[in-house]
Amino acid sequence: MSLSIGIHDLSFATGEFVLPHTALAAYNGTEIGKYHVGIGQESMSVPAADEDIVTLAATAAAPIVARHGSERIRTVVFATESSIDQAKSAGVYVHSLLGLPSATRVVELKQACYGATAALQFAIGLVQRDPAQQVLVIASDVSKYELDSPGEATQGAAAVAMLVGMDPALVRIEDPSGLFTADVMDFWRPNYLSTALVDGQESIGAYLQAVEGTWKDYSEQGGRALEEFAAFCYHQPFTKMAYKAHRHLLNYCGYDTDSDAIAGAIGQTTAYNTVIGNSYTASVYLGLAALLDQADDLTGKPIGFLSYGSGSVAEFFAGTVVAGYRERLRTEANREAIARRKPVDYAAYRELHQRSFPTDGGDHATERQTTGPFRLAGISGHKRQYETR
Ligand code: CAA
Repeated sequence: MSLSIGIHDLSFATGEFVLPHTALAAYNGTEIGKYHVGIGQESMSVPAADEDIVTLAATAAAPIVARHGSERIRTVVFATESSIDQAKSAGVYVHSLLGLPSATRVVELKQACYGATAALQFAIGLVQRDPAQQVLVIASDVSKYELDSPGEATQGAAAVAMLVGMDPALVRIEDPSGLFTADVMDFWRPNYLSTALVDGQESIGAYLQAVEGTWKDYSEQGGRALEEFAAFCYHQPFTKMAYKAHRHLLNYCGYDTDSDAIAGAIGQTTAYNTVIGNSYTASVYLGLAALLDQADDLTGKPIGFLSYGSGSVAEFFAGTVVAGYRERLRTEANREAIARRKPVDYAAYRELHQRSFPTDGGDHATERQTTGPFRLAGISGHKRQYETR
């Protein structure tokens, strides 16, 4: 009999500030309907000067450690495409900030927005080998495009932390997975750039190709039929993309692409992404959080997950919602993580965007801005300094 392994807990954090798309539209003269309707975004999270992927990740993971303790966590997998070091895993800083046991393996994973799904699947493999252990999977990213580029409207920042283990309280992850890899240059960030490069229309096309490719493989591997799924959590670089993807999947499978049916399958997964913006590898799991927080009872129902990471690697898999999941949700905390953000005007956002972390090798303190539990205090002797507030 196969073991029941999956997501036992899920918690997220986002940045200190928020820029409404109305402010971006007023600055660049875009008709607001393009943002609100055309790409389906209302606002985007903006990290404070003293926040980064580590502080967001620690903030997301701390409530999980507080609830479950750390005794069974023997692995931390940190997925990101906005890494802060070429050698050291951002997860080691989080391990230290959270006081996790030294008997832990910690590693960082990268494949654009797909990284967290690789982390989840690898975590399941580890738990299969040693069912007593739990794995802390963290997805944390700051999405940054060049100012005044089309991508500027699709930025954001967030971290999702998930505890993966046996007999999960939220979602049991199933076999098989549908897999797809294609060598495309739709979106990438060379080491010498702080903002991503993207061919917007090519990236949308590459995503849709990956939807087809993963579904084809998922079906060939003996996966569920499309009509069995109660909802679909897609990677959401902007929430309209989930609608495009699901319409494409229905078309590919020969189904009607009725707008109400698409909204029924996707609608409850977009609430957090629409106000947080693109959180890269965390985004598909923010979709899951929004779905579980809002939907009527999903007990026993299969959810489809489509994880896409530019470049590109994608995976389609299913998860079944577990009885009693509603008592374990963090709905209030999730809403508070969004509501606590302070709105910034366009000038303040632009100033934060243009800041870059010092690269001159000197010692620099970071301005105190965040009101979150952890902060990046500065850099000293080429070492990032983190502190608990
Ligand atoms: N009212 C309503 N809708 C409007 C409108 C208005 N006034 N004006 C325009 N629109 C609609 C357009 O018709 C279009 O809709 P469709 O896509 O359904 O045709 C939509 O708004 C967007 O308009 P454009 O295509 O003209 O927008 P753009 O050229 O400014 O670029 C973008 C949009 C390509 C998403 C750009 O923001 C971008 O490059 N973003 C980054 C790349 C990205 O997110 N790619 C997604 C796939 S890659 C991926 O998923 C990995 C990842 O995380 C990056």
